[in-house]
Amino acid sequence: MYLQWIELVYSVLVVCGISTVLAILMVIADATIGNYGKKKLIVNNDKEFEVEGGNTVLTTLKEQGIFIPSACGGRGSCGLCKLKIDEGGGDYLPTELSWITKEEQKDNIRLCCQLKMKNDLKVTVPDELLEIKEYEVKVDKIVDLTHDIKCITFVFQGDDKMEFKAGQFVQLEVPEYELCEETVYRAYSISSVPSENKRFQLQIKYVSNGICTTYVHKHMQEGEIIKMNGPYGDFYLTDTDSELIFMAVGSGMAPIKSILMDMLERGINRKATFLFGAKNTDDLFLVDELKSLEKKLPDFKFVPIISRPEESKDWNGETGRLSEILPKYLKKPENTEAYLCAGERVIISYKQKLMELGIPENKIFYDSFG
Ligand SMILES: Cc1cc2nc3c(=O)[nH]c(=O)nc-3n(C[C@H](O)[C@H](O)[C@H](O)COP(=O)(O)OP(=O)(O)OC[C@H]3O[C@@H](n4cnc5c(N)ncnc54)[C@H](O)[C@@H]3O)c2cc1C
Ligand code: FES
Repeated sequence: MYLQWIELVYSVLVVCGISTVLAILMVIADATIGNYGKKKLIVNNDKEFEVEGGNTVLTTLKEQGIFIPSACGGRGSCGLCKLKIDEGGGDYLPTELSWITKEEQKDNIRLCCQLKMKNDLKVTVPDELLEIKEYEVKVDKIVDLTHDIKCITFVFQGDDKMEFKAGQFVQLEVPEYELCEETVYRAYSISSVPSENKRFQLQIKYVSNGICTTYVHKHMQEGEIIKMNGPYGDFYLTDTDSELIFMAVGSGMAPIKSILMDMLERGINRKATFLFGAKNTDDLFLVDELKSLEKKLPDFKFVPIISRPEESKDWNGETGRLSEILPKYLKKPENTEAYLCAGERVIISYKQKLMELGIPENKIFYDSFG
């Protein structure tokens, strides 16, 4: 019995010893293999930075004050952070390949949130991204639009202001709090007009356990200062006379509201219809404001659509899915541009329907909220 005990204690000690040695080896490996030392980052064959190796290209550029769109906060799930890597990128990673087409691969386009600075690197950053700045803004007002969508007004500090085009988006920095150990960024479309360049508004829908939306809905306070950067994106009105069909659900209204208000301010009176979807009347918002635009923009029609009429008493408007209602309002598909704003799957279904109805693919513009 005594000998069996000694054997047991001995075995435990051996296992513990091996585990300790393995743990020490892993720490050493992490410190040496993961330590890439200083690397050179050359931007547009012009600016050269000495940077810490091992970080992603996205983070490294941000540390040099160069902001690349990164709506998913670097998780490889938005595909927005594409850049041309001229030298030093190495092989494609499996996490990049679902976002990069064969054509883009020939051009050395990479997802810069996945690619790490393991070598000296030459990168091409488009001029418009070099214009993007980071700002500190004050949360001026938080207003409930529905039970799960808030409108937040932010004000620039001091002499800061931001020039942007109606339809573009910004990225909010979420500070560290219980759901995130380090700051993260999320994209939000601006819902206010570019003429108000000292302030801007966002419409943010709560996503259960979402890092940014939980912060905004449950922690953000009027008066607090928050960081953001922008403006980003090419979801803005073309300079043509085509008729317009806008389609959005929920907080997808944001960039379309900005575009419509901007059309009013700039006297653009293209024939336009806005199909706006909600589950029931509790999910509808700003209906009066958008309806009143019909009087100011004579060729504009606002069509709120409820998909669950059984939940909405006294609703006399359109019911069903936006794609089902669409044919009724799309009169001249060959001369119409479509602007869509919703989640990815919804965008795919709207796009398919619009093309079936005769709108060419190159006249369908969209911002996918992911
Ligand atoms: C260009 C662009 C513009 C955008 N503009 C707006 C806007 O104006 N208003 C707005 O509210 N959002 C907008 N979004 C979406 C926004 O960027 C965030 O993805 C969203 O707010 C969720 O962020 P989160 O940090 O709270 O959730 P995360 O922490 O990123 O996600 C938590 C979980 O929720 C899931 N999830 C993420 N987003 C959604 C969603 N929308 N619905 C259901 N589940 C989801 C994720 O898969 C994950 O499992 C925009 C996105 C893009 C790319
Ligand atoms: S930041 Fe979203 S894929 Fe890179």
